[in-house]
Amino acid sequence: KRPVGAPDKKLARPVTKVGIVGAGLMASQLALLFVRKLEVPVVMTDLDQERADKGVAYVVAELDKLLQKKRISPDKHNRLKALISGEVGYESFSDADFVIEAVFEELELKKQIFGEIEKHTSAECVFATNTSSLSITDMAAGLSHPERVVGFHFFNPVAVLPLLEIIRGEKTDDAALATAFATGKKLGKSCVLVKDAPGFVVNRLLTRFLGTVIGTIDDGTDFAVADQALEPLGLPMSPLVLLQLVGPAVALHTAETLHEAFPERFGVSENMRKFVEVGKSGVYTWDEKGRPSVDPEVEAL
Ligand code: 3HC
Repeated sequence: KRPVGAPDKKLARPVTKVGIVGAGLMASQLALLFVRKLEVPVVMTDLDQERADKGVAYVVAELDKLLQKKRISPDKHNRLKALISGEVGYESFSDADFVIEAVFEELELKKQIFGEIEKHTSAECVFATNTSSLSITDMAAGLSHPERVVGFHFFNPVAVLPLLEIIRGEKTDDAALATAFATGKKLGKSCVLVKDAPGFVVNRLLTRFLGTVIGTIDDGTDFAVADQALEPLGLPMSPLVLLQLVGPAVALHTAETLHEAFPERFGVSENMRKFVEVGKSGVYTWDEKGRPSVDPEVEAL
């Protein structure tokens, strides 16, 4: 069944090579998914070779694990490993059909990157962005081919979570959107078309959810108590562990974007700001046996 709002799949263009901008946490997971599911060359780029190599090393290590668990054959393992590469610059994007960026959440940075990539790619190459909440229309503004830009928003851990939010900007054309849907399907994801609006759908919910829990801590509730209060709901992970998975910087950015768009509806937690200011990746530290405890530095904030 065609997802609601998806264009005719006949309009989709083939994807035979993929470019990934960034080699961080999300970008590396994306590279692994594209290599595994599309089985086409995937080039990761970052600011320097060391970062790009780190991204490639992650993909190779995950492919090694899949081989050890006998989830892929030795032949496939070798074939997939040969498909991933990492470099600086966009020269190798010249024959890519699909580029996705997963860099820091900063509109001007993303615009500048897309502008630079346009100099190296064909006019048909789709530019996808894994932004959590920024406007696709704004990101496409100023490009020679804004019709190629689509939102392609994954959820962490990318290998496991099935949802993919696909976002059409004001100028996105049917061919780019159809290519995004066809690619999302090949990646094994459940694709939904969502409106180009702050936070799309999921991050509106997530920001409200995390913001409410952390808001109770702002109001004086103990960290562990606030986190454990929702345990009876049977969530797959507690709110503050989820915050650590998402990363306070991303969560804060999304909350600020939503607060700017809807000041009456979304606040920004003081504790969330403090985590980011002092460079904390979350509330917990884990001991060698995997047992969590609230980071004393966080408790003292
Ligand atoms: N990477 C790859 N695979 C992972 C993984 C990871 N980080 N974490 C778990 N898995 C795999 C395991 O290998 C296992 O696979 P298998 O069944 O094939 O062996 C499977 O997931 C289940 O893992 P576990 O049994 O260890 O643990 P759980 O049943 O608790 O599942 C979880 C782990 C899927 C991470 C679950 O806790 C969960 O769904 N948590 C909520 C995550 C969530 O809500 N993410 C959304 C964040 S929002 C976002 O990313 C958007 C951004 O814009 C903010």
